[in-house]
Amino acid sequence: MLLTLEGLDGSGKTTAWEALQAVYPDATFTSEPTDTWYGEAVRRSLGEDTDPISDLFLFTADHADHLSRVVKPALADGELVISDRFTDSRYAYQAASLADTEISRPLEYIRGVHSAFTREPDATIYLDVDPETAAARAGASDKFERASFLAEVQSNYERLIDAEPERFVRVDASRSPEEVLDSVERSAEQLIEAHGDD
Ligand code: TYD
Repeated sequence: MLLTLEGLDGSGKTTAWEALQAVYPDATFTSEPTDTWYGEAVRRSLGEDTDPISDLFLFTADHADHLSRVVKPALADGELVISDRFTDSRYAYQAASLADTEISRPLEYIRGVHSAFTREPDATIYLDVDPETAAARAGASDKFERASFLAEVQSNYERLIDAEPERFVRVDASRSPEEVLDSVERSAEQLIEAHGDD
């Protein structure tokens, strides 16, 4: 089973993903951007004024490598895979940054680019926080962390949830860290049980 965690910067997603490691010690824990040289290139682009189309393919190259090297082999071995960010991050973030380019309907375009080769998650926990809180928590230190940009990202996540409500579980991430972690752990347990993994 492939379970992913998604949300705006500052939603507490990485903390939740770390907490799940203690609960599922045998699962494969992974994340995007990855810690390979592809992921390093992606992180470098965050601090620079790069072309949004080029960003899309940089993030997508990192994803393709992540899929073939980590995710697909682990799933083929019957493992539970829990990823901190995955396909939806491109659909939400890059669709927002492509909004001012010649690409019309960017979200559909990005989904199309992925559809030929990706493996969509079986379930996704969405940590829901408003863009102002997210930007304040994240420190708004790079181009994707400003509240105005995160508001666009949030509306793309909402479109994704509307399109596939059965795949997503929404967790209110504006609460205290303890409450958020409890909700994530409970949601993960239910999703994993429903999928027949443990
Ligand atoms: P983040 O999850 O904050 O990674 P880390 O904590 O390891 O640095 O991701 C870094 C930024 O990249 C974040 O602002 C979200 C953005 N991002 C995209 O725009 N598209 C993507 O496909 C991914 C995976 C991340």
